[in-house]
Amino acid sequence: MKSAQIKGYGGNDMLEISHNMPSSGASEGKVLVIIKAAGVNPVDWKIREGYLQEKVKLQFPSRLGMDFSGIVKKAPNKAGVFKRGDEVYGQASVIAGGSGAFAEMALAPVQTIALKPTSLSHVEAAGLPLAGVSAWQALVENIRLHKGQKILIHGGAGGIGSIAIQLAKTLETYVTTTVSSIDKQFVWQLGADEVIDYKNQKFEETLNDYDAVLDTVGGETYTRSFKVLKKGGIIVSMLEQPNAELMNTYGAKAVFLFTQVNNDRLTRLAQWVDKNDIKVNVEKTFTLDKTGKALDYVRYIHPRGKVILAIQSPTWAESLMNMMHEA
Ligand SMILES: NC(=O)c1ccc[n+]([C@@H]2O[C@H](COP(=O)([O-])OP(=O)(O)OC[C@H]3O[C@@H](n4cnc5c(N)ncnc54)[C@H](OP(=O)(O)O)[C@@H]3O)[C@@H](O)[C@H]2O)c1
Repeated sequence: MKSAQIKGYGGNDMLEISHNMPSSGASEGKVLVIIKAAGVNPVDWKIREGYLQEKVKLQFPSRLGMDFSGIVKKAPNKAGVFKRGDEVYGQASVIAGGSGAFAEMALAPVQTIALKPTSLSHVEAAGLPLAGVSAWQALVENIRLHKGQKILIHGGAGGIGSIAIQLAKTLETYVTTTVSSIDKQFVWQLGADEVIDYKNQKFEETLNDYDAVLDTVGGETYTRSFKVLKKGGIIVSMLEQPNAELMNTYGAKAVFLFTQVNNDRLTRLAQWVDKNDIKVNVEKTFTLDKTGKALDYVRYIHPRGKVILAIQSPTWAESLMNMMHEA
């Protein structure tokens, strides 16, 4: 079985495709999944490069990857509702007790998976777990966004932003988003009402009285965003801790959101996607062998929507080799 792993923190020189790791069987609270596609997120290159090592210590070699979509191959009795053959999506991160999603097969904790949206292909569904749950937690759970409100979504062409725009529109709100000029057409198509080219316009000079801001960018974009909020408004940031001084100055609430992917949120997300014909834009797919290139694409090029590893199932001969390894 093939998997992408790192032997230490660093760039792609630390990344290797392992061919020999046996696929372990399902254990209590986990299912064994055939990975059909794995979504690449900014957090994956941050983990590779050691940005999160103070929070999460890895044992090397360590497999990479969180988001996936695939098919249950083995489910022990205590694996809840899941059974062999179920099409599921979610996370198989090493950090949360999985075995890493950038692999032909992975162990995934039952708490971090759900039945996949039926309207999406595996490649599309693999782009949804972290970005979709982030958007859901921000707009539905933290902001409690509702009909008639105005929201500013920064980074509307990105993984989180592109789902958040669609979610905000199904909640019948007025959506303004910031993007590069080349991404304008893309976010109009997602339903944005107003689009600001962040490289050429200062959003805080034209926008005011907003109920909410979703910040997927951080830094000065975060601090300048307080100016567009009405008194009592709320900013949810994926990167910045609440700034008490700015909260006092503008009479606004600020929240740092730590995304937690779980079965309940994934299930609600899948139902919303299927009911509203939601699109996950996949800009580019790579094979598992090109994991390094996929990570760099997300790090330096910033896709419209998502980058996905489309993963081939092992051949019959490879599966036989795996079984011999496991025996
Ligand atoms: N706290 C958590 O639990 C959590 C969970 C998930 C993600 N995150 C973090 O949240 C961030 C966003 O995640 P993502 O998956 O949506 O990333 P992404 O797909 O890379 O999207 C970010 C988008 O922001 C755009 N952008 C960059 N600078 C901008 C600016 N000044 N104004 C407006 N847009 C700008 C980028 O496009 P261009 O640069 O091409 O214009 C890109 O489209 C990442 O840093 C990620 O690590 C945190």
